[in-house]
Amino acid sequence: MKVDPKLIHRLFYPQVPALLSAGFKGRITAMPVVSYAAVSDSPPLVAVACNPEGFTCKLAVRSKAFSLSFLRKDYLATFEKLATTSGTREKDKLKAAGLKHGPGSELPVPVIEGAEATLECRLRSKARMGDHLLLVGRVEAAYASRAFSEFWDFRAYRPILYTGWTDRMTTYRDS
Ligand SMILES: Cc1cc2nc3c(=O)[nH]c(=O)nc-3n(C[C@H](O)[C@H](O)[C@H](O)COP(=O)(O)O)c2cc1C
Repeated sequence: MKVDPKLIHRLFYPQVPALLSAGFKGRITAMPVVSYAAVSDSPPLVAVACNPEGFTCKLAVRSKAFSLSFLRKDYLATFEKLATTSGTREKDKLKAAGLKHGPGSELPVPVIEGAEATLECRLRSKARMGDHLLLVGRVEAAYASRAFSEFWDFRAYRPILYTGWTDRMTTYRDS
C-alpha cells in the first residue's frame, strides 16, 4: 500500500521517546521527543526535530541549551502529561508533571532526578526543515545509571516503546 506522507514517521515505530528539557530566566519546560538521533561521535552531536511553535523548542533556542533524558516505562503517564500540556501555562512544567530536577553539571539545563541517562547539550545550530526546526546540540556531559555499561542492560532498564498516539500514547507491550 502507499503510505500517506503524514504517516511516514509511524513506520519508524516502536521508538524510545526521550524528554527534551530547557530552562531560561526562571522558566522550566520539557516535552517528549522521538525525532532525535546521535549524528556525530566526534564531536558528539545530537539532532532533534522540534515543532517551532512549541514553548519547549522556543525556550531551548533562547537558552541555547537543552537536556535529553531517558526514563523508565514507569514514567509513561508523566510523558503523556508532558505531551498534552504546554509549557506556556506553567512556570515549571517538570514540577507540575511531578518530576524533580536539578541543574546540569556543565550547562544551565534541567536534569531530571531518577532519569536512566542524561545528555547536557549546548545548542550548536538550528535549521528549518519543512515544518520543523532541527536543533543540533553538542553534548557537553553525558551520564547514565548502572543499567548502562557500554550497552543497556534491558533487564534493569525497561524503556517506553512508543507506537503512536490515538487518544493517548500507545506502546509496544510484547517485552
Ligand atoms: C512520544 C512523543 C514523541 C514526541 N516527539 C516529538 C518530537 O520529536 N518533536 C516535537 O516537536 N514534538 C514531539 N512530540 C509532541 C510534543 O511533546 C508536544 O507537542 C508537547 O506538548 C510540546 O510541549 P510544549 O508546548 O511545552 O513545548 C511528541 C509527543 C509524544 C507523545
